[in-house]
Amino acid sequence: MSTVVLVGSQWGDEGKGKVTDFLAKQADVIVRYQGGTNAGHTLTVSGEVFKLHLIPSGILYPQKLCIIGNGVVIDPPALLAEIDTLRERGIDISTLRISDRAHLVMPYHRRLDELEEERRGKGKIGTTLRGIGPAYMDKVTRMGLRVADLLDEEELREKIETLLAQKNSILANIYHAEPFDPALMFAEYLGYSRIIAPYVADTSLLLDEAVHSGRKILFEGAQGTMLDIDHGTYPYVTSSSPTAGGACIGSGVGPTRIDSVVGVVKAYTTRVGDGPFPSEISDAIGDHIREVGREYGTTTGRPRRIGWLDTVVLRHTCRINGLSHLALTLLDVLTGLESIKICTAYRYRGSVIEHIPASLRALAECEPIFEELPGWQEDLTSTSNFADFPPAAKNYVNRIAELTKTEIAIVSVGPGRRQTMILQDVFLIP
Ligand code: GDP
Ligand code: IMO
Ligand code: MG
Repeated sequence: MSTVVLVGSQWGDEGKGKVTDFLAKQADVIVRYQGGTNAGHTLTVSGEVFKLHLIPSGILYPQKLCIIGNGVVIDPPALLAEIDTLRERGIDISTLRISDRAHLVMPYHRRLDELEEERRGKGKIGTTLRGIGPAYMDKVTRMGLRVADLLDEEELREKIETLLAQKNSILANIYHAEPFDPALMFAEYLGYSRIIAPYVADTSLLLDEAVHSGRKILFEGAQGTMLDIDHGTYPYVTSSSPTAGGACIGSGVGPTRIDSVVGVVKAYTTRVGDGPFPSEISDAIGDHIREVGREYGTTTGRPRRIGWLDTVVLRHTCRINGLSHLALTLLDVLTGLESIKICTAYRYRGSVIEHIPASLRALAECEPIFEELPGWQEDLTSTSNFADFPPAAKNYVNRIAELTKTEIAIVSVGPGRRQTMILQDVFLIP
């Protein structure tokens, strides 16, 4: 067993970066397969904090092949800024490889993201304004620029001219906004292409070689299942497939090569951006959890909305991703609460439902049905053995496994590498 997909089980920010960095020690290859700079993955290593947006969270280990797959949308100046920051901090990025099939986020995508959010007004999605939706839209309408185009000077010039003719017309006529200059954009992107070129490869081939030589591969999802374009709370979602199926599409590795799928689950729930959130906490306990868990967005700094753990969401996540195991994070944040609630079902117009309705109007009407468990007062952050947990904390973890019918492989009690307990080796899960 050597190929593990790690996905977000809620609305993002579950601690995927931390768990990926932790598991990367055992892996040979770490792959991002979707999303773009909307992702913000925070790693804390020996007290140093690293915030990654595009580069896989395996990069802090030397000698690990880190792949940005074809399903990711790459914003070249943002990627170069991330590379520079890592280099300045002494991180070797020579093992980074970027798919030649990945699409680019261009300045007009960022601008259109902002303009469209302004136009939506009260009905805004609350995007990260990183141009993600418009970039995936162009990919699907076959108007995208890919990394391979960036490396071909003539192709780049022609495509920028053709694409800008259309984008400038949309900007001027629909949004009454300023156009972009094709010559300036070409010169700027040609500059980026020269820096990015050494990292570019057919990454599906690299992964195929890795699979055939029995190397351990870890796929790092961005966002979360509830933000998935198909399976999330549409339209309050992102524009890619963060779910396990997305790992195949976004990397060029076939489904028969995937051995296990681990869902990263925060011990409570957070959401940034708009959209229904049945288990949201609207009293002081929510503010308390936000402060203790430092729940402010890694990418945008926005305060995250806080809710109790929702096992209706988790059962949806287990099914959609075919989760083999869970990795439970931020359990330490719940220390000190008298009692802890878990949402087990929803009440909708008088009946009890145990699944997520497709209609957002219906989801917004759903009332959470909670069961209440006793809390614990003991600090968990230096516990290294699950057996040493206070009984109430053990009980909470076991109840999550029971309600989701999924075993818990990892429990995390702090941002550091050592604050992690392995209950099952995910690379050995049959
Ligand atoms: P991601 O987008 O899923 O990678 O998650 P983020 O990095 O956006 O947000 C998770 C935050 O929680 C980061 O600041 C992590 O350093 C932090 N974190 C991860 N695991 C734990 C944990 O078990 N306990 C605490 N207290 N913080 C954690
Ligand atoms: P990581 O990988 C949390 C949310 C945005 C918004 C919606 C659409 O750090 O978990 P987009 O910019 O993608 O068009 O925004 O998705 N969102 C995230 N929320 N964590 C993320 O990434 C997110 N990436 C996007 O807040 O609601
Ligand atoms: Mg994040």
